Amino acid sequence: MTGNYETILVSKADGVTTVRFNRPHKKNAMNPTLHREMYHVLDELEFDDETQVLVLTGEGDAFSAGQDLKEYFDANKDSPRDREEIRRISHGWRHQKLYNYAKPTIAMINGWCFGGAFTVVASADVAIAADEATFGISEINFGSLPAGLVAKVVSGLMLPRQALYYSMTGEKFDGRRATELGFTTMSVPRAELEQRTLQIADVLKRKDPRALRATKELFKGVDLRAMSFDDSWHWLNARERQLTLEQKNKNWMDQGVAQFMQGNYRPGVEVMPKSE
Ligand code: COA
Repeated sequence: MTGNYETILVSKADGVTTVRFNRPHKKNAMNPTLHREMYHVLDELEFDDETQVLVLTGEGDAFSAGQDLKEYFDANKDSPRDREEIRRISHGWRHQKLYNYAKPTIAMINGWCFGGAFTVVASADVAIAADEATFGISEINFGSLPAGLVAKVVSGLMLPRQALYYSMTGEKFDGRRATELGFTTMSVPRAELEQRTLQIADVLKRKDPRALRATKELFKGVDLRAMSFDDSWHWLNARERQLTLEQKNKNWMDQGVAQFMQGNYRPGVEVMPKSE
């Protein structure tokens, strides 16, 4: 399952699965094969017991130079059918599967990140960039616009005036600036990127996976900002009851709260000890 891909590399260690875009000679631009392979691998890993946390990154000096301008756009320009098919797959893995993934996901931005690659970063739960990485909403530079949901994700995550500025100018920015703008969660020196990513993965691995999934869903599956206070109250209560049912006979009340009352741990500073 993990070996036979042409455009991605999959590696597993200690519950953390890393999927690497593997077209370094093309700066990991996303061509139709890469989209198909990402669509497939995300399905596989979602039900893979060895995968507790998913990390996405790029081989070589690029995270991804966005859509492959030749193979994604130019090659399909005269074939509406092929273009539509690959648009759906490309949309499906990034905005449906990855955005709503059942497991925690981390985008580790190691280098160049342009255009369509912004949507991969935006769909991951945590985005950790190298300080030295280079970002650009570059569509304006080739006479286009940040379509394919790029404008949607940057307007949702970045400060509004900055999103417009970088979309209109195509000016590039580094990992530190990406974090100031709210686009990435944090940035660290390139030399520390893998280590910091694994530390975060380790923290996520120790949480109850059902509680983690429910927490993601609160923020990603549902737009709490668009709900009234009353609607939020009812929805969150319902989700809490559902989580308790999913956790069956070791729900957070019985396990997490009981262990705290027994003095076994302090949840403000520790995660609950595993009972089995
Ligand atoms: N689509 C298709 N091919 C791409 C690509 C893309 N988005 N980005 C890079 N490549 C290819 C180049 O055409 C080149 O191929 P070649 O060796 O067959 O000529 C190869 O990758 C290396 O790129 P190159 O431009 O030589 O590397 P560089 O280090 O000088 O510059 C970038 C790197 C990323 C700054 C530059 O390639 C670039 O601007 N790419 C386009 C980025 C972009 O605007 N993406 C938005 C798409 S939605």
